[in-house]
Amino acid sequence: MPSILIQNIKLLTQVRKTVEPLKGAEMRDLPGLKNAWLLIDNQKIKDFGTMDTCPDNADEVIDATGRLVLPSWCDSHTHLVYAGSREGEFVDRINGLSYEEIARRGGGILNSAARLQDTPEEELFEQASLRLEEIQSYGTGAVEIKSGYGLNTEAELKMLRVIRRLKEKSKVAIKATFLGAHALPLKYKADRNAYLDLLIDEMLPKIADQGLADYIDVFCEKVAFSVEETEQVMEAGAKYGLKPKIHTNQFNCMGGIQASVKHGAISVDHLEVINEEEIDCLLNSNTIGTLLPSAPFFINDHYPPARQMLDAGMAVALATDFNPGSTPSGRMPFVLSLACIKMRMSPEEAVNAATVNGAFAMELGSTHGSIAKGKVANVFITKPISSVAFIPYSFGSDLVDQVILQGSLI
Ligand code: NIG
Ligand code: FE
Repeated sequence: MPSILIQNIKLLTQVRKTVEPLKGAEMRDLPGLKNAWLLIDNQKIKDFGTMDTCPDNADEVIDATGRLVLPSWCDSHTHLVYAGSREGEFVDRINGLSYEEIARRGGGILNSAARLQDTPEEELFEQASLRLEEIQSYGTGAVEIKSGYGLNTEAELKMLRVIRRLKEKSKVAIKATFLGAHALPLKYKADRNAYLDLLIDEMLPKIADQGLADYIDVFCEKVAFSVEETEQVMEAGAKYGLKPKIHTNQFNCMGGIQASVKHGAISVDHLEVINEEEIDCLLNSNTIGTLLPSAPFFINDHYPPARQMLDAGMAVALATDFNPGSTPSGRMPFVLSLACIKMRMSPEEAVNAATVNGAFAMELGSTHGSIAKGKVANVFITKPISSVAFIPYSFGSDLVDQVILQGSLI
């Protein structure tokens, strides 16, 4: 593979070795090198420095005058394997129904599950591949993808096999999460335990046996699964070495955060509602709080109190939640804009949340999320822009010019 030298970089952004997620005030700082070069070789970041020390031997040279270079976005929460779309519900919400009301009527996730069950694996793979290519063009270089639109053994396995094929094919780093407990299928309405038994006794062993998942997730919410049920699934996952990443506190504070922390969750995701006790619980843990502001944007709900979490000292990550119901978008730069505009995060905090902390929310912190020697060369070059703040400022614009993944120009 040819080596690549990027030179005359206006700002080489997010230059740091990382050993731990960034917390609270640490997130205000975004270290970078002005007038810099970056050498990529053998899929890795080989070296970097300021232009006065620029090497002159590389197979390919890219001039980045006026441009920024950033580590690829690390989107630690998506559901990008899905079938079809749900714009009917979008119109229902315009007409006054809420996301939860639609779910209670058997729409929402169950709607997507019915579609997915009927979609052949190959077609699902093709749809998901296009979405993966799309998010790559927005600068994403690592992504977590969940199952959870199968809701029976066969269809959950189908989704996870699609994710495995994406992993094999793509230069984007991918983590797979089993989300069998995303919604209760209607036929189990009178017997919730029967579904949990199926999930625990049939789906999980097969998934673990075939090595199809890295993590386990539950939608802990009034319209989905209780805290006790969430704990039951986390315990079952732990027997197979699957650590939790949990959907919680989207609409209600029910104790999902405390339960997730108790079970060593890597992250708790959503947090549109969170109280002081829950923030304290996260402060005393290694669990990252992952915020998904394009979900409340799209379903017209309120945003997580990011300022309160950051000022208290929490480690916060940002992700898209790309899915057909609450966020039909995988555009990380828009997530950064929402974080700044709607949650009053600074551009530096937003970049840290979307790179370093996103990487840690997928346990990729030592290989992805920053510019450091030996890290995987997943980076992007912007169009000529004035500063880091220009990225969230120019919401909706496409500022990514060139994408490099595993040391190859895409
Ligand atoms: O993270 N809230 C639960 N799951 C997804 C939405 C899934 C859907 O509506 O299809 C979320 O927002
Ligand atoms: Fe989600």
